[in-house]
Amino acid sequence: MNEIKIFSPATVANVACGFDVLGFCLDNVGDEMIVRKTAKKGIYITKIEGFDLPFETDKNVAGVSALALIEDANPDCGFEIEIYKHIKPGSGIGSSAASAAGSVFAINELLGRPYNKTQLTYFAMKGEAIASKCEHADNLAPAIFGGFTLVKSISPLDVLEIPTPDDLYATIIHPQIEVKTSEARAILPKEIPLQQAITQWANLGSLVHALHTNDYNLISKSLHDVIIEPYRSQLIPNFHDVKKASLNAGALGCGISGSGPSIFSLSKGFETAKKVEVAIKDIYKNTSIEFETFVCKINTLGMKILS
Ligand code: HSE
Repeated sequence: MNEIKIFSPATVANVACGFDVLGFCLDNVGDEMIVRKTAKKGIYITKIEGFDLPFETDKNVAGVSALALIEDANPDCGFEIEIYKHIKPGSGIGSSAASAAGSVFAINELLGRPYNKTQLTYFAMKGEAIASKCEHADNLAPAIFGGFTLVKSISPLDVLEIPTPDDLYATIIHPQIEVKTSEARAILPKEIPLQQAITQWANLGSLVHALHTNDYNLISKSLHDVIIEPYRSQLIPNFHDVKKASLNAGALGCGISGSGPSIFSLSKGFETAKKVEVAIKDIYKNTSIEFETFVCKINTLGMKILS
């Protein structure tokens, strides 16, 4: 195989109580990439459509992660990458992660899969780090593994796959403003009170248990973020109104998607997720901010090979 076309999915990181460790994978929304072998060694970004991103390999997240992989694999060919970007950078649904993970996934396929998913996540972290100014894998892991993932450790990298209840749907609203991950990280406190930490890790533990046991009621009781949300919600206009409307419409929980500005809700069943979409649209229709919404099932496959 000399060429591959892939779908690299959008993802939701943090999932309220799991800052920097928990994430899940979205369906239908994502980037497409075409990667092909070249006789000349190296990584070449030859096309970017959708958004204005750097073509220089060492400045592009897809390029940097691909460089990390070929430095280790030392293949006797190079690769050119075409990026068809549909996920807006700075949207909070894993735009840089989709690029960083997509290139290494595609190259691994073209090389006959020498690396496992954890190793691919490791290479992708190198690309993601240039976007968010620190290494974290809570968007990368669900993009590569699919479903829900927990990043137990980044050094050494250890990713756990968490089961996805069948009837779980996500509703996303993406206000068309940009929040840079690096800036959304800079406003966070360096230390937190012990009582908040206790509440947060109790919620994270119970959320993971709820996902394992298909306990939607416990999912709902666990989707709370007492540490990050109070700071970052200030960057997202009408966040609290959206959250209230979402919960009133029947969502199990609602929180900031990654570093924002997107907001995610999780619901049991497609019908409820659609009702949540209508309710949060009503909130944003009353603002002057443009926005997009969508509803999707959790994508348990992650990356998809299109051709
Ligand atoms: N865990 C990261 C954060 C995800 O919230 O900063 C965004 O890239």
